Amino acid sequence: MSALVLLTIVATLVTLSPQPPPAAPRAQAAPAAGNATTGRALFVSVGCYQCHGYEAQGSSATGPRLGPRPLPFAALSRYVRKPSGQMPPYTMKVLSDAELADIYAFLQSLSPPAATPSLLK
Ligand code: HEC
Repeated sequence: MSALVLLTIVATLVTLSPQPPPAAPRAQAAPAAGNATTGRALFVSVGCYQCHGYEAQGSSATGPRLGPRPLPFAALSRYVRKPSGQMPPYTMKVLSDAELADIYAFLQSLSPPAATPSLLK
């Protein structure tokens, strides 16, 4: 068998080999795919800031601090979809999983709170 024939066979086999499955939709790749800048904008536009503050710093009267170390994405997502307390639920229609991943990235990107001086000093 000549090298050319062999090469042709190999090339044909490579072409015929099954294609890898399409990449998983972005929502399932959350939270790694999140964009913190988009997330910050969403945090304001869908209203999270109203209760959690512009920097997600929280307020004892309206809602807890959410960053910079938010709950694991799965738990956060579960809560946002089906809150058990005062917080209103956010359905997929209002906020997609991809958008929630962006918000998650924003929460992770926040700087830690300033150290509170100890009262016991
Ligand atoms: C109307 C006020 C309000 C809005 C708007 C709101 N939250 Fe909340 N959120 C709360 C309150 C209050 C809690 C405390 C638990 C409760 O009462 O539901 C909370 C709890 C949470 C928690 C659970 C925190 C924890 O440590 O258990 C997460 C996560 C959260 N909010 C995320 C969000 C996100 C993301 C948005 C925007 C998509 C949002 N919230 C919008 C009021 C709000």
